[in-house]
Amino acid sequence: METNLREAELNVVYETCRVIEQALKLDQALETILGILSSSLSMKRATVTLKDEETGYLVIRASHGLSEKERKRGIYRQDEGVTGLIFRTARPYVAPDISKEPLFLNKTRSRSILKGSITFLGVPIMLHGKPIGVLNVDRLFGNEVPYEEDIRLLSIVATLIAQFVSLNRQVKLREEKLRKDCSISGSDAQAKLFMVGKSPAMETVQQQIRKVAPSKASVLLLGESGTGKTLVAKIIHELSTRARQAFVKINCASLAENLLESELFGYEKGAFTGAIRAKPGRVEQADGGTIFLDEIGELPLGLQAKLLRFIQEKEFERLGGTKTHKVDVRVVAATNRDLASAVIEGSFREDLYYRLNVFPIRVPALRERKEDIADLLHHFLERTSQEYGRVVGITQSALAQFTRYDWPGNVREMENLVERLVIMADGDEICTDILPVYLNKADPDKEKIPLSRIEEMERKEVLTALEQNGWNQTRTAKELGVTLRQIGYRIRKFGFEKMVEEHKRGDRF
Ligand SMILES: Nc1ncnc2c1ncn2[C@@H]1O[C@H](COP(=O)(O)OP(=O)(O)OP(=O)(O)O)[C@@H](O)[C@H]1O
Ligand SMILES: [Mg+2]
Repeated sequence: METNLREAELNVVYETCRVIEQALKLDQALETILGILSSSLSMKRATVTLKDEETGYLVIRASHGLSEKERKRGIYRQDEGVTGLIFRTARPYVAPDISKEPLFLNKTRSRSILKGSITFLGVPIMLHGKPIGVLNVDRLFGNEVPYEEDIRLLSIVATLIAQFVSLNRQVKLREEKLRKDCSISGSDAQAKLFMVGKSPAMETVQQQIRKVAPSKASVLLLGESGTGKTLVAKIIHELSTRARQAFVKINCASLAENLLESELFGYEKGAFTGAIRAKPGRVEQADGGTIFLDEIGELPLGLQAKLLRFIQEKEFERLGGTKTHKVDVRVVAATNRDLASAVIEGSFREDLYYRLNVFPIRVPALRERKEDIADLLHHFLERTSQEYGRVVGITQSALAQFTRYDWPGNVREMENLVERLVIMADGDEICTDILPVYLNKADPDKEKIPLSRIEEMERKEVLTALEQNGWNQTRTAKELGVTLRQIGYRIRKFGFEKMVEEHKRGDRF
């Protein structure tokens, strides 16, 4: 028997290992693995059956080549059929021609459409020495490869699957444990409206918010994705006299032009096929309150004119209607695009731009306000800790990495990472071990290579010697037991040249 895996087999193993990233979405990961098996090894139909922990039944968790209906039929008792047999005996099973196999229940009835002989192969999925499921595969004309090889490969894949399942169960258990006793506070919504930020840049933002909120003015929020624009929009609403009325949000990038128009301004009965009754739009829902137009930079040109009129006159017609409606709505818009360039490009109306830009608030990127990182981190740690019912802190060195990192996804990226880290943390602290590697990539341009501790000691030694010897290089070199050239080198390395020069001059005068 060959001892090396065939190339195709190796490929299966390799590809399967790559799926590990998806392990937390178990069903999806399993489907992917079966897909890999089928495309690499011309296996036509494959299923992963796992024992349901509650009922004890064997249930198809993933399949390849089965329809949803077929899949649903695939529930077995442990004593049933070939799948049951493999599970109970914890041994592989091969049926060279399943049409001659009495054990075949063909529960999913998927095989009836196939003519000719089908070879069936099945292996148990073992975890800690016990079967937890079965991996089954059909090969259509599988005689060119000896069964032992197939079984060997399937067993390897089954082992990997078992690891996936195990990982998945551990995470689920941990999450459950963490969520237990979690007290969902009534003021959850309020807590989420809290804005962290003592940096000068954020102070400015908060001042602007306080100033503009009580007025009726439209506000334009500018800033990269994840910086907190939506949060600012909500806070503006909360701090305004409209707080008790609706805050209605619409994303201008999410819908095609005509749909967006009917969503925004509503439509009359018969406005288009399917409009069997009239429907008010978001601006009507927002009457008395605030409408938040997210990603305003993506608003189609055709609608820009209508929006401009709406902002100026608070007037509009529903789609397919002639009656003019009037509402009292405050407009807050946000974009991560450079609207001024969009105007120059011609994709954004200049008049609308100026109308919106009356009160712009720029929410700075997180890397522009690194002072806020620690506060934000503690804020999210506290919130996540509450949510999961346990207190998690962070070590100094992990915090240092957080601060050094540039956060291209801004506050949202940090918020998501903290949540993940709280789940992953073993003890009660987040330490550098569990931080993603990219966090540690220091930017070489930014960091003036810091001195090592030894260099730091050397620097002090040289400085002291220079001072004690009146900045005379010859005497200093002698005291330190180095050559004149060597002391010159150190003076340059530690940036003492200027001081040496000054003392030379001082000596002369
Ligand atoms: N200063 C802050 N303090 C506390 N939480 C914040 C702060 N800034 C942002 N967040 C939180 O970070 C997440 C992302 O913020 P938000 O959705 O407001 O960003 P955004 O600028 O609207 O992003 P996008 O452009 O992708 O819509 C939210 O959960 C928000 O609550
Ligand atoms: Mg947003």
